[in-house]
Amino acid sequence: MTYTEKDKKFKRYTVTSALPYANGPVHIGHLAGVYVPADIYVRYLRAQGEDVMFIGGSDEHGVPITIKARKEGCTPQDIVDRYHKIIKDSFAELGISFDIYSRTSSEEHHRTAAEYFKKLYNEGKFIEKTSMQYYDEEAHQFLADRYITGTCPHCGNEHAYGDQCEACGTSLNATDLINPKSALSGAKPVLRETKHWFLPLDQDEPWLRQWILEGHKDDWKTNVYGQCKSWIDAGLQPRAVTRDLDWGVKVPLEDAEGKVLYVWFDAPIGYISFTKQLKGNDWEKWWKDHDTKLVHFIGKDNIVFHCIIFPSMLHADGSYILPDNVPANEFLNLEGDKISTSRNWAVWLHEYLRDFPGKQDVLRYTLCSNAPETKDNDFTWKDFQLKNNSELVAILGNFVNRTVVLTHKFFEGRVPAQGKLTELDNDVIAELKTFPERIGRSIETYRFREALAEMMNLARLGNKYLTETEPWKLFKTDPERTATALNLALQICANLAVLCAPFLPFTADKMHRMLNLQALGWRDAGRSDLLTEGTLLEQPELLFEKIEDTAIEAQVNRLLETKKQNELNAWQPATVKEKVSFDDFGKVDIRVGTVMECSKVPKADKLLQFKIDDGMGGRTIVSGIAKYYPEPEKLVGKQVCFIANFEPRKLKGVVSEGMILSAEDKDGRLVLITPSQLVTSGVNVG
Ligand code: 2FM
Ligand code: ZN
Repeated sequence: MTYTEKDKKFKRYTVTSALPYANGPVHIGHLAGVYVPADIYVRYLRAQGEDVMFIGGSDEHGVPITIKARKEGCTPQDIVDRYHKIIKDSFAELGISFDIYSRTSSEEHHRTAAEYFKKLYNEGKFIEKTSMQYYDEEAHQFLADRYITGTCPHCGNEHAYGDQCEACGTSLNATDLINPKSALSGAKPVLRETKHWFLPLDQDEPWLRQWILEGHKDDWKTNVYGQCKSWIDAGLQPRAVTRDLDWGVKVPLEDAEGKVLYVWFDAPIGYISFTKQLKGNDWEKWWKDHDTKLVHFIGKDNIVFHCIIFPSMLHADGSYILPDNVPANEFLNLEGDKISTSRNWAVWLHEYLRDFPGKQDVLRYTLCSNAPETKDNDFTWKDFQLKNNSELVAILGNFVNRTVVLTHKFFEGRVPAQGKLTELDNDVIAELKTFPERIGRSIETYRFREALAEMMNLARLGNKYLTETEPWKLFKTDPERTATALNLALQICANLAVLCAPFLPFTADKMHRMLNLQALGWRDAGRSDLLTEGTLLEQPELLFEKIEDTAIEAQVNRLLETKKQNELNAWQPATVKEKVSFDDFGKVDIRVGTVMECSKVPKADKLLQFKIDDGMGGRTIVSGIAKYYPEPEKLVGKQVCFIANFEPRKLKGVVSEGMILSAEDKDGRLVLITPSQLVTSGVNVG
């Protein structure tokens, strides 16, 4: 029984984590939001001896996957095969302990999702509606909103999508777009009638209101509750559960050629179909028995789907339980900026594992201690280094290492006897007893940061105990007291090995090996006799190593490089200035001149001084392009364009009689404008 269960004891736990789209790898935002907390939760429950099933898998349908495939000239199946493998392998390497990690392109999933739809259809749970939707007559298919582009009616952006204008952020209907165009063929789409099936969410409002707004006011997180409340208060609308698309689970009806289930209808059914794959005929109790506690770990963008739409689907079937809790996290930013796949602004898990081999727990620790549980949070590489060096190395690692090293030094690596206990010892023993419950309660109430901080407090207690007892000084004069102090310090280490395991499983394994500790459950923790006298310890092994500045700089530099690249990609030509008349243009006297001399202006980093043959006896012009022409003498003989009737100006003591024309490239570089063939010095440009 867990610590927070009062009236109800659950027999088993079905824990799901949002299925990541298989159109890109997993990044730290996914991990901090969903997978690290979910993994801590299930590891803890298992240590409590609970019957737990942890479900994960890839979400392999949806329009973005088809768009990516089209862009890359491959099939959607190629895309999902590639990313499913990357995601699955990197989760495994980080120790995310799924009982199954499957995929929605699997046969079992297609069958389960189609049957689910069919049952609701047969029972009349859907409403059928026909509507007019854009159709591409050249590509012979209906167009998903993302496949239609056009001009935004709000801001005039010519590249708005059928569901959203990314320039002004407005969400749109495809029919709002001015001059709509198919992204498939470029053709102008036409409106055609199409039929779809809708889940009448409006009819679910009364029970949803009661179940969530009355029933879960106190135990659901405020961000989750708040989002549900505003959705329900705004009035729920029927929601289409099918789409005109050829990638996804086929709608299992005869008159539904070319239609698939909406990705958000099929994906959560993945939790059920993966359970079938894992448990075979024994699957139902994990979803239908009221003694099962169902918990969905998700990010905040998934709240409505897991708290309103999926429960409505489960309720419509009638034989399923509803989630007991949906602990959604907010978002994690990276170095002050929103994580973005398209801008490559992310720390990708598979790249982290490559760059920091063996340091899985450092990432798990950083992401948990900084998890966006109640508000968006920021990941910085500096903070990552600090958390490793000043907390994992200096507090946890240091305590365990000192204890094991001293035991080897004074007692040949064997757990010494616990002799007479002092008041200090008894206080420490009493405090030690309180940790398992405190950490457990925090985990059970989804406060993982708090739980982790408590676990570290136990390591702090250990360090404090060593500082107070000073066993390294004591041995000569009082070996018996030294033995007791080290025995107790080792008991704290053994407790840490159990209590850190949900958060830092790799470290826990190392500690178990080093301490020669048998497998223990959560309920064993709190005791001060976990290690029996005489047990031989293994040689001390460092739990954590310092992370050097160079490793951090390499990561920060990569991000700076990305930022630079993004700025270049985002470059757009400047808006064309106000119109000028021919006469006005004629007032500017542009000419070609030949460079006779060119040198740096003394004490002015940016300026070059040109002597130009202008066909009229020559003139001096100063130009701010020194940074881009480090060898000015090489410009001699080149031809440039200049404004001949520019008001003379004094620049750093030199009178400049004109302006040399240059183009500013998108990276800010200035490039001289020069005629494509030699011309006579002094001729007009126009
Ligand atoms: O937001 C996402 O990444 C979705 N692929 C999550 C799906 S969760 C579920 F319902 F399967
Ligand atoms: Zn717009």
